[in-house]
Amino acid sequence: MLLRQMSNFIASSEAQYEDLYKQSTEDPKKFWSDFAEQEFVWHKQWDNLLDYKLSSDANDLGVKWFEGAKLNITENCIDRHLAAKGEQTAIIFEANDPKEEALHITYSELAKNVNKTANMLKANGAKKGDRICLYMPMTPELAYAVLACARIGAVHSVVFAGFSAKSLSDRVMDSKCNLVLTADGGYRGNKITSLKEITDEALMSCDCVEKVIVLNRTNSKIAMEYGRDVWWQEEFAKASDVCPAEIMDAEDMLFILYTSGSTGKPKGMVHTCGGYMVYVNYSFRNVFQYEEGDIYWCTADIGWITGHSYIVYGPLSAGATTLMFEGVPSYPDMGRFWEVVEKHKVNIFYTAPTAIRSLATCDMRLVTKHDLSSLKTLGTVGEPINLEAWEWYDEHIGKKNCPIVDTWWQTETGGIMITSLAGVTKDIPTYATLPLPGIQPCLMDESGNEITSAEGEGRLCIKYPWPSMARTIYGDHQRYADTYFSSFAGKYFTGDGAKRNAEGNYRITGRVDDIVIVSGHNLGTAEIENIINEHELVAESAVVGYPHDVKGNSIYAFVTLKGTSESGAVTREIRELVAKTLGPICKPEKIQITTGLPKTRSGKIMRRILRKIAAGDFENLGDISTLLNPECVEEVIKGRV
Ligand code: WT7
Repeated sequence: MLLRQMSNFIASSEAQYEDLYKQSTEDPKKFWSDFAEQEFVWHKQWDNLLDYKLSSDANDLGVKWFEGAKLNITENCIDRHLAAKGEQTAIIFEANDPKEEALHITYSELAKNVNKTANMLKANGAKKGDRICLYMPMTPELAYAVLACARIGAVHSVVFAGFSAKSLSDRVMDSKCNLVLTADGGYRGNKITSLKEITDEALMSCDCVEKVIVLNRTNSKIAMEYGRDVWWQEEFAKASDVCPAEIMDAEDMLFILYTSGSTGKPKGMVHTCGGYMVYVNYSFRNVFQYEEGDIYWCTADIGWITGHSYIVYGPLSAGATTLMFEGVPSYPDMGRFWEVVEKHKVNIFYTAPTAIRSLATCDMRLVTKHDLSSLKTLGTVGEPINLEAWEWYDEHIGKKNCPIVDTWWQTETGGIMITSLAGVTKDIPTYATLPLPGIQPCLMDESGNEITSAEGEGRLCIKYPWPSMARTIYGDHQRYADTYFSSFAGKYFTGDGAKRNAEGNYRITGRVDDIVIVSGHNLGTAEIENIINEHELVAESAVVGYPHDVKGNSIYAFVTLKGTSESGAVTREIRELVAKTLGPICKPEKIQITTGLPKTRSGKIMRRILRKIAAGDFENLGDISTLLNPECVEEVIKGRV
């Protein structure tokens, strides 16, 4: 079957965008039904397009799209392209080491490799419905493994390979994975992360894992546990390259992906097969305006939602060529991204503001020595992009000739929600701009009313379901209800604040809850506090974010000790403890030892005040007279580090 790139659901002009937007709000069911029917291979049509109730009562809350439909997402990402595009490159693999030859994996090779991987999983006990944890470097095998899980109906849970043993074991245990896929090590710049060693440590506290399949990537010396661990390459070699796709219900689970929550434990966001497939394909094509033959590169890691939706499922479902990069932007030097763009003649480049900010501070010759003329579209994701970074990206990378899509979305939303469409709708620096057709955002004021004026500022909510919204938090539907549907009746609350201008463009102002975005990574402050509090000398702590030039935000920890004012060794130990338990990205950049923390009369730490102090904004602390201990504010200010 031929894949249409032309579609009346992909806007090619501003007028068409407006028309599609109108259709999608006047009759959302017809809109999604027509798109889904035209653009995908289904084994059976849905009986009911959409059934939903957005309620804060977990027993009453639920969203189902395409109920009764049967499909397999891998047939849409692979099989249906084989006739026309078997020899076209599906994945370009660029290794960490620039001297290692790049791979061009065609759609037919992808089909074979995914089927072999799927059979390898089956031979090691995997079945439909099992949860499989992927703790892997960014090699093609990770993409094969994701798709292989989907092929056999197993649920993948990818855990970013920068996470610690504790984070890995928490995630493996939470979803009771019976299989873990990992590698001996992973290359990151001039370092090797010992993935197998970390896995071994993590699995000491997991009783659910039966098998570990280990990819040999770095030839590192590792221990293999007899009866549990097998080598990927050996198992893969034995497996057949034919594996029929398991027929899935649209609402069957496709994957779980953990994201930080504002209370301690990470949330396992659940995405389902049908709706997720429909929306990532739709948004990929609309936002990036992908054309046949384009080389598309998203620099994210598959360990994050961006990698799931816009390295793997979105591009492959659209029959695109997607580039996977194993390394880091700084190796062998800070020009690596631009070298890769030149080498593979990348046309569409999608990255994070934090990467742009750090690359913008480098010697410009690292940019100018590369031919970037293949670029036609740029994108950003993960956090607000400041004007300076936007202008640098526009001028030095886009040569003022490329639209920049500033894409706002979340792990929970599955796909891009608010953005310009490349070259079709206008981009405005620092604004994500307009919702995609099908997405109905709104702003809510403090008292819970929708702001109906054109211009406004408030909390960003979505008032109608969209196909790729997370359906629940794995094992905790109540928490899903509490987190997203209890703040504003009948609406999905994003946790972000936003402004809207008179033309309806949205500018995201940042999180309004206890989540801090550091270098594009979502960190829950409560989770970090819990770890700091484990240190034997710590009485209590409060963790907040503060603005950071390169990382966007960085972590500031206020720590009160048990009866000692010693700080030298303690601060170092706290940093090590956090890095070891949660991963180096969570490490507090600043630690201030305090003798007290400002509290409400009911004993709640006033993080709002601490956030201002950490940011150096002492003027607008608000009324502190009602605090339990107003005198400590002055002292905390004096001790700021
Ligand atoms: C949070 C979601 C979406 C994939 C990567 C992050 C922030 C994301 C933007 C943007 C301003 C943004 C929000 C959001 N965010 N994109 N273009 N402009 N803020 O996914 O880890 O689930 O984080 O990232 O605060 O809530 P995530």
